[in-house]
Amino acid sequence: MQKSSKTPSRGQWGSSFGFIMAAGGSAVGLGNIWRFPYITGQNGGGAFVFVYLVCVLLIGLPLLLNEIALGRKSGKNPVGAIKETGGNRFWQSSGVLCVVVCFAVLSYYSVIAGWTIGYIFTELINIPVDFEVFIQTPLYVVPLCIVFILLTISVVLGGISGGIEKAAKFLMPILFLIILLIAARAVTLPGASKGIEYYLSPDFSKINGKVILSALGQAFFSLSVGWGLMITFGSYLPKGNNIIKSSLWIAGMDSTVALMGGLMIFPALFALLPGVSPDEGPALVFNVLPRVFDQIEPFGNIIGGLFFLLLLVAALTSSISMLEVPVAYFIDERKWSRKKQPGHWVLLLCF
Ligand code: ALA
Repeated sequence: MQKSSKTPSRGQWGSSFGFIMAAGGSAVGLGNIWRFPYITGQNGGGAFVFVYLVCVLLIGLPLLLNEIALGRKSGKNPVGAIKETGGNRFWQSSGVLCVVVCFAVLSYYSVIAGWTIGYIFTELINIPVDFEVFIQTPLYVVPLCIVFILLTISVVLGGISGGIEKAAKFLMPILFLIILLIAARAVTLPGASKGIEYYLSPDFSKINGKVILSALGQAFFSLSVGWGLMITFGSYLPKGNNIIKSSLWIAGMDSTVALMGGLMIFPALFALLPGVSPDEGPALVFNVLPRVFDQIEPFGNIIGGLFFLLLLVAALTSSISMLEVPVAYFIDERKWSRKKQPGHWVLLLCF
């Protein structure tokens, strides 16, 4: 890796709207549409949704605001931001952890995102998929994962306003449109009301320590707080930006998409596969939903294809933020140029 003594240019968001779309895109991801529904199913439905929303409001939102503020004030990656505010080596190590965690999450996130690419096609052309066989077949999973990694790198390579912001401004409206379409179809299916009730009417007797911890973990993961993503994105903000307003928008978008994610899944599941339990776990979206789409007449396969396209878009707007954290670290602290990093990330992620 070539180094230069000059700090490479970091870039900046072109507008507040662009920042909100990019940071909202980071927050809205597989966590909202794949993880949130299955964790809700495993933790008692409506009661979990209630605790989750309380966690977002009381803990997630203040943290989000703080991370963006720390990033904007320092204009640095998580390690540099802690250094800038006087943190010694011990505290800086928490910034290093952020960089490592982003990279580690990105490595498994890309695998799941790769599955979504495969499912877009199998849904559209109506091929039944055995989920267990699919995920254990390297011939399918590895190339799909590589395609997703290359997509992520190509956006990050474009820089802040020319790559990440541009992609988010294009992809986020598409994401909202697809969610609205599928949720509208799901809640109007005959028999959907049982699923809506399971999902939205809380049975408070189900709240216990495990439910609270799961809700808190989901709030952190979904809002992209606690692992440096928002410090990094905040570091590209001009000083005059209203971060309170931006944080409210980001948290609002994230929670709305999570709630809509459940509205796409539970009404359809209860209406079309009443015998199947909603606590299927991580396989819920990949194993159960294609069977739900098969039952929707007409255009079930198109709705299925759109659903997995939605997952792909959501995953991509999040994965670019995960890659941006180590990229920003190497730009700020090691003076690597953005353009010289991709080959290294491909090799490391594939490994
Ligand atoms: N916040 C991102 C998600 O929920 C990581 O998928």
